Amino acid sequence: MKTCAVVLAAGLGKRMKSATPKVVHNLMGKPIVTYSVEAVKAVAGVLKVVLVIGRHSEQQLRGIFKADPMVSFAFQTSLLGTADALKSGIGGLNGEEFDYTLVMTADAPLIRGETLQGLIDRHIQGGNAVTVLSFVSKDPSSYGRIIRNPYGTIKGIIENPDATQEQRKINEVNSGIYVFSKDALPLLDKIQVNAKKGEFYLTDIVSIASENGLKVEAQKMFDEDEFIGINSRTELLAALNALKRRVNRHWMDEGVTLMDENTTLICPDVSIGRDTIIYPNVIIEGKTVIGEGCVIYPNVRIVDSTIERDVVVKDSTLIESATIQSGAAVGPFAHLRPGAAIGKKAKVGNFVEIKNSTLGYNTKASHLSYIGDAAVGDNVNIGAGTITCNYDGVNKFKTVIEDNVFIGSDSQLVAPVTIGKGAFVGAGSTITQDVPVNALAISRVRQRAILDWVKAKFTKDKHK
Ligand code: UD1
Ligand code: CA
Repeated sequence: MKTCAVVLAAGLGKRMKSATPKVVHNLMGKPIVTYSVEAVKAVAGVLKVVLVIGRHSEQQLRGIFKADPMVSFAFQTSLLGTADALKSGIGGLNGEEFDYTLVMTADAPLIRGETLQGLIDRHIQGGNAVTVLSFVSKDPSSYGRIIRNPYGTIKGIIENPDATQEQRKINEVNSGIYVFSKDALPLLDKIQVNAKKGEFYLTDIVSIASENGLKVEAQKMFDEDEFIGINSRTELLAALNALKRRVNRHWMDEGVTLMDENTTLICPDVSIGRDTIIYPNVIIEGKTVIGEGCVIYPNVRIVDSTIERDVVVKDSTLIESATIQSGAAVGPFAHLRPGAAIGKKAKVGNFVEIKNSTLGYNTKASHLSYIGDAAVGDNVNIGAGTITCNYDGVNKFKTVIEDNVFIGSDSQLVAPVTIGKGAFVGAGSTITQDVPVNALAISRVRQRAILDWVKAKFTKDKHK
């Protein structure tokens, strides 16, 4: 049995009022369309995914899936509606025939792979020609209504503008997800244009199939959140809230403590170890991995980073493409930029920025520093206000600080420069040459005191 999936993604998404194609809008760190594609790929037996694209979204969608060997593209020349979109999708199969075609909209990102699997299993077991996934909605106004016969089987789908007052009361609606057997697909040619919208509605295939004596079934679901279709910014927020809740509940079930479910945003590809505690207003994005027993204090954003176990991230810290080893503490108000690698039990304190640099075991940069393009060894103390001067306006240079070094406060280390093992740098120094192992380097002007200078100045001024 061969199955293919067609994801309809060519629509304009006018109701978003946006320069960005609707299905490219970001939902928890990923374009909306990627959720549908991932869900159909999770269905057993799906060999191929055809994405139907249009002129305005072509470039971006090709870009998003260019590395995915399962996804191919079909171009819909004019946006003549969902039936025309499916025809374009089938055209994109280049004559290859499949026993079953799973069709879904690209704007329903909460759909689960298991639900699609259940739909296709039901379709096959029932020997259906068409199976529609329907759901019960509290506010059905933006969906097509499922019309059933008095004895319960589905008869057709009516879009909101075409529905009578009576039909509008129906709360069972079309999810936009269907399975078609090979024999149902020729019926696409029988669909007539909808006079009101000038589009060919895929939903019309249901009444045509049943009129032609084919077996049509609607599988009714009750978890409305899973089928939220995004057409407007309001629905985008509804989808975000539902997905956020789903992901947060999952991590709580896995043993993570959340202090505020509403303001914690954990993106779908993140993983978190048990007994980690997350305070309010925390955002964790991308492919971040957080180990067990960490504490993430409020107002922290972590993107594409790896944090080992027992790490403390204090308030208002930004961590991007960085790694933090176990037992380290970062923040408050720290900024770890790409390539920052913080060693075991190291400490990065307030107003410290670290970029493309490693800090070794138990090394401390507790206050007000910039560390860029540096390799810092173990047990190093970096005093307040230390700056690695890594950039001369054209090129970047490396600073090496070996183990057990002490950098006094307010020092500038002008790269390229190496501070040898165990060396000391006196506070307020500008270091422009390598410092030998165990040496003291100091480069500040010797202090002098001009005695009675103040008195002399003020006496003189009085005589003016
Ligand atoms: C559609 C269904 C409706 C269902 C709802 C579920 C029709 C006529 N109506 O309505 O019954 O309740 O989905 O969310 O099918 N698209 C194309 N090319 C086109 C037009 C649309 O590729 O020419 C794509 C869109 O990108 C979108 C999907 O098809 O991903 C659905 O289109 P949309 O305009 O969102 O349909 P709805 O009005 O939501
Ligand atoms: Ca829609």
